[in-house]
Amino acid sequence: MILPITVYGNPILRKVAEPVDFEKREINLSELVDNMFETMYQANGVGLAAPQVNLSLALFVVDTAPFFEEDKSGEKPLKKAFFNPEVLEFMGENTPFNEGCLSVPTINEDVVRKEGVRLYYQDVEGNEFEEEFHGKAARVIQHEYDHLLGKTFVDRLSPLKRTLLKSKLNEIAVGKRVPSYRVRPNKK
Ligand code: NI
Repeated sequence: MILPITVYGNPILRKVAEPVDFEKREINLSELVDNMFETMYQANGVGLAAPQVNLSLALFVVDTAPFFEEDKSGEKPLKKAFFNPEVLEFMGENTPFNEGCLSVPTINEDVVRKEGVRLYYQDVEGNEFEEEFHGKAARVIQHEYDHLLGKTFVDRLSPLKRTLLKSKLNEIAVGKRVPSYRVRPNKK
């Protein structure tokens, strides 16, 4: 099922996401993961965090396949759902990359992040993992992880850049700048 995506100005995007409790059974987690992937694909995204579908839960999904259609670097695409992730270590060089976000439609800006991360996370059954990610995977993971901290890539831009984007961001918040996929309108 395709879910409407929350956009800039919605307070849920500013909240620290609640940990996922695997004992609670109110939410069917595997169904939620399926819905999040479906929602992400129809919007042509490479990552989607639960607050972007209006749920304050420490969960995001990633599929970096679109980055590898013409790739010859040897890096493999990553498709995975991450529950209760914690960045244990940032690694490597500061690297700029032009980012977008399904919750900040029509805006793309260069964002500097580390080349790699070491991450703790759980899978849909609550199994625990610790794993290193690099390149595009580390890029998308860091972007989605920020969503769970109540941040978007806009918060990573310089104050000047943010000032320059202010009117566009306001247009998104009030529903005057809309993407091709379904969004959840912000409350007035
Ligand atoms: Ni995003």
